Amino acid sequence: MATAAILGCAGYAGQETLDRVLAHPGLELIALGSDSLAGREAGALDPRLNGSLPAFTPNDEAAASGADVLFLCLDNADAAAFEPPADAVVVDLSGAHRLADPELAIAWYGSAPGAWSYGLPEVHPAEGRLIANPGCYATAALLALGPLAGVIDSAVVDAKSGVSGAGRSLKPSSHAGFVLENLSPYAIGAHRHAPEIAQTLGFAVCFVPHLLPVRRGLLATCYLQTDADVRGLLAEAYAGSHVVRMLPDGTAPELARVQATDTAEIGVFTDGATGTTIVICALDNLGKGAAGQAVQNANLALGVDETLGLRLHGVLV
Ligand SMILES: NC(=O)c1ccc[n+]([C@@H]2O[C@H](COP(=O)([O-])OP(=O)(O)OC[C@H]3O[C@@H](n4cnc5c(N)ncnc54)[C@H](OP(=O)(O)O)[C@@H]3O)[C@@H](O)[C@H]2O)c1
Repeated sequence: MATAAILGCAGYAGQETLDRVLAHPGLELIALGSDSLAGREAGALDPRLNGSLPAFTPNDEAAASGADVLFLCLDNADAAAFEPPADAVVVDLSGAHRLADPELAIAWYGSAPGAWSYGLPEVHPAEGRLIANPGCYATAALLALGPLAGVIDSAVVDAKSGVSGAGRSLKPSSHAGFVLENLSPYAIGAHRHAPEIAQTLGFAVCFVPHLLPVRRGLLATCYLQTDADVRGLLAEAYAGSHVVRMLPDGTAPELARVQATDTAEIGVFTDGATGTTIVICALDNLGKGAAGQAVQNANLALGVDETLGLRLHGVLV
């Protein structure tokens, strides 16, 4: 049994990662790191967490716990400043180590990336033990477009995410008074996931994210021009996947089927008037877009079944 520690447990990504680790048959949680909850019992985060869990410790103590696997669920600056212990598998859910080009990393995140490997298991598996977990929008765009990178050289990505994508701390842009009954584009043409998408595809995309008035879930609609067999290429890429589901012709991805799961679904359509190919990917920003993918990456690094601990079954609602 491998041991695990989570840093930044009080945030949304930390809480979701904790849930996956508790469901994991091959991981034993030995440290719960949280600077804001340090010294308090696990139940301070959620009353359903019982006394069998360790109490919260400061993040630096959790980092020094000797765990085989560390999940960094910290903001970008804290993750950038983190010194990984020798030998542990470390999965960083922040953006701090995603951009391999130092100039780009400094421009978007304020620091050079170091020797971390970008890990999107289906499209760009990580190498080594220091793994940069992809961003939620980038995951959806790259699942839709990654297997097509050899046959296209441009795309437009129109994406929408639930409000949990902005984290637990309250901001004017995530306040209920702004979000509810609203749909707002933001960081138009200037979002930090755009260079992350380009890094893996090898070309830039036009990317516009939007904030949806729902708690969780993300949907990316990608528009591209190609004569290639897009459905065939995607079906081949995901034929063996337990995480990414190709939908039958005519069936569109929906948030409701992926919310609170670690799965993604992909649909392919053709616009009858223009011949534009439309590839749509839906996933949960906190599932395949964060914690689910982090655990999947950790599983691969540990050499165990990549699906252990993942939520792969939705609920019919
Ligand atoms: N949210 C998503 O959908 C998503 C998806 C992919 C990647 N990520 C990345 O994952 C990282 C964490 O994101 P997040 O969404 O979990 O952010 P968050 O909810 O804002 O949490 C970030 C940090 O703030 C602290 N915190 C959270 N709630 C707090 C509270 N009420 N009072 C005081 N401190 C609090 C936590 O640290 P302590 O526990 O140490 O106090 C946590 O590590 C970020 O780098 C983000 O970019 C997020």
